[in-house]
Amino acid sequence: RFTPRVFSGIKPSGGLTLGNYLGAIKRFVQMQGGGFETIYCVVDLHAITVWQDPKELRSATREVAAGFLASGIDPEKSILFNQSQVSQHAELAWIFNCVARLGWMNRMTQFKEKAGKNAEAQSLGLYAYPSLMAADILLYHATHVPVGEDQKQHVELTRDIAAKFNHDYKVDFFPMAEPVIEGPAMRVMNLRDGTKKMSKSGESDMERINMTDDADTIARKFQKARTDAAPLPESVEGLDGRPEARNLVEIYAALADITPAEVLARYPGAGWGTFKPALADLAVERLSPISGEMARMMADPAEIDRILARGAERARAIAQPVLSRTLDIVGM
Ligand code: ADP
Ligand code: NA
Repeated sequence: RFTPRVFSGIKPSGGLTLGNYLGAIKRFVQMQGGGFETIYCVVDLHAITVWQDPKELRSATREVAAGFLASGIDPEKSILFNQSQVSQHAELAWIFNCVARLGWMNRMTQFKEKAGKNAEAQSLGLYAYPSLMAADILLYHATHVPVGEDQKQHVELTRDIAAKFNHDYKVDFFPMAEPVIEGPAMRVMNLRDGTKKMSKSGESDMERINMTDDADTIARKFQKARTDAAPLPESVEGLDGRPEARNLVEIYAALADITPAEVLARYPGAGWGTFKPALADLAVERLSPISGEMARMMADPAEIDRILARGAERARAIAQPVLSRTLDIVGM
């Protein structure tokens, strides 16, 4: 009944990482033109749930857009826009704030991780973030949401919100959006702590590969990545209990579009002195054309703004009728 439609977004809360690339952007590009309408968003309203310097926010918004475009998102084939330019997101989020239950929000593990011991000092926005994310998705009646593993719970909450709305108002209006989480890089880990995910807002720059890092920096970061001392195992079972080794093998697999087993077969019993430089070379080979193109685009911010403005117009054309119908259903 619903048009197969993809929605996903990335926060302009710092520089894009290899985790964003492998877990999200690369797959966004693959889904473009694959029988789906594809809608991709720079989610600045999500970014400000934690403090963002206004000047840096503006620049990060363009950088994320440049990252999408340089990786192969075609603004003719996909709708690419900036969330705050389509006010319907915030409006639908309010309706969903009144549908979602506090108990549901209290179960969100990402809030707990981000808030740490200091939940009382977090913004209300950070707590309500999943309800805005549900609005992002459902405003387009999106059916598929490609995300990294860290966002799975939020897509499930989106389904809960859709189901409760449909039930409470006795309609069949919002679809049950499916998370699309696949491939070896659905959770790229931090290079210094293999139990934490790589994040653009992590503590130290050495923990992550930025999409804009130059070749030397990428080589140095992989060289200094924490690992155990043992060589690569013969089979993937041998990666059990070795999170850092698994992470580097999975990154290689995702970059080379092969399986982790194929990586191990390519480097039988290799030590880190062999594998890390090979991984760095592969990452540079994949990322440097993209970062070169990003730098070229960032030199012409007016062109990025023009693309985002056009995308916002196209997004509004879908979003406004859905919001109007929602308000009508609610009795407004
Ligand atoms: P970050 O956590 O780096 O700030 P976002 O919250 O903006 O990133 O997430 C944007 C997309 O990138 C989401 O689909 C998210 O699941 C994905 N993503 C973020 N970090 C990783 C990672 N380390 N591994 C895989 N996917 C990731
Ligand atoms: Na995230």
